[in-house]
Amino acid sequence: MHKLYETIARQLTERIDQSLYLPGDRIPGVRKLSEQFGVSISTVVQAQRLLEDEGRIEARPRSGYYVRTQPWPVPSPPALSRPSTKPTPVTGQELVLRLVQAANEADFVQLGAAVPHPSFLPTRAIQRSLSSTVRKYGNELSTYQFPPGNPELRRQIARRMAEAGCQTHPDDIIITSGCQEALTLCLQTIAKPGDVIVIESPAFYGLLQAIEVLGMKALEIPTDPHTGISLAALSLALEKWPVKACALVPNSSNPLGCTMPDENKQALVDLLAQFDIPLIEDDIYGDLGFDAKRPRAVSAFDKNEQVLYCSSFSKSLSPGLRIGWVIPGKYREKIEYRKYVTSLATPTLPQYAIADFLQQGGYDRYLRQVRRDYQRQVSIMIRAVGKYFPQETRVTQPQGGFVIWIELPKKVDSLQLCQQALAQRISIAPGQIFSATQKYRNFIRLNCAQPWNEVLEKAMITLGRMVHELNKST
Ligand SMILES: Cc1ncc(COP(=O)(O)O)c(C=O)c1O
Repeated sequence: MHKLYETIARQLTERIDQSLYLPGDRIPGVRKLSEQFGVSISTVVQAQRLLEDEGRIEARPRSGYYVRTQPWPVPSPPALSRPSTKPTPVTGQELVLRLVQAANEADFVQLGAAVPHPSFLPTRAIQRSLSSTVRKYGNELSTYQFPPGNPELRRQIARRMAEAGCQTHPDDIIITSGCQEALTLCLQTIAKPGDVIVIESPAFYGLLQAIEVLGMKALEIPTDPHTGISLAALSLALEKWPVKACALVPNSSNPLGCTMPDENKQALVDLLAQFDIPLIEDDIYGDLGFDAKRPRAVSAFDKNEQVLYCSSFSKSLSPGLRIGWVIPGKYREKIEYRKYVTSLATPTLPQYAIADFLQQGGYDRYLRQVRRDYQRQVSIMIRAVGKYFPQETRVTQPQGGFVIWIELPKKVDSLQLCQQALAQRISIAPGQIFSATQKYRNFIRLNCAQPWNEVLEKAMITLGRMVHELNKST
């Protein structure tokens, strides 16, 4: 039979497991708990000691008990990556289309594409903005909104850029169909087929695909899962190779989830200025960092208009509305023209609707909420990996966004795992698609922006079992 203090400890554990208290939250004081559970103060103290011993909570002097950020053996993060040291053409990306197609099938557990479940997005408010826009602007919505795009939307984005530390005028901004179009326009403008583009390793596959279809070469640079691209390795690469541009995700990168410290951002800008190399900065996850303060964009450190800043509302508001933007600095005219030649204009209705949504206010309040939601989901998923996957599995500790990058035991081939998981209606992203040379054979990326429920837990148990089995097979 359990002693009373053990029962209280278990009930507190349940509250933590149900995320009533998140990592870093203070749990109620002794007096409050003794009232809540109807037990003596000494019983509560014993229960707290037990939880402390189990590593679930930690005492802070004169402040009380807090939920530990790493409640039980959380797998440690992967080491600094060691990619190929030569520029190479990109191969093996065709698989990604099948992966994202699975994201459209309703009965799939969607852990593959980095797409938030609609329950995390402000869908109602967006729908209201769409309806009121239709009522208000009627026929105007049927016409082209030629580049640079809707003036009110650009004004709202310019205001928001201050949060990233950037002084931006609405005329500096060109609206695009998502961040992917912004990245492609930048690459096409700066480089030509055969040119070398520096990227992180592992890198966002959309960037690899753009490099692939434009016939350019990728030069992967070792990247630390906590601080981002290795500046020492980058410096050596710039000495050695004729690099045309650098394309990075400096804040809450995809798939590592790391954010470059400010001093690295400054050093990066200085280094690139020394070699006169432009940076294509993808800041799509910038608003989704887990710290209360939004991380600054690398662009905020840029004095020479060396940075072409790209982003979108796909991760924070609606991937389906396809609204992104680019702030191209001295390449503005070229990119504006290229945008016009590529697709004439970004659809008019979503531009008006997002401008309306931003004008209404409340976006920052929503962001505070969704950042917390994503942090909670990420933390639950990391713990599920710790619980159901083999012991030697390693997982990143993202500083924002909603994906985790998992290093599986060496024997596990993630493409094989992906096939087996698809057969069970679970989509995952195999590591190979995050490298130009299909490295990361024993890695996967999981999308954590899914509500944690029985179905998801079952999927994690199934994945864990498959990994165990693949690890055993010869
Ligand atoms: C780092 C990164 N950049 C760009 C994109 C594409 O964004 P959009 O849907 O706005 O084109 C994604 C989507 O997964 C992403 O993760």
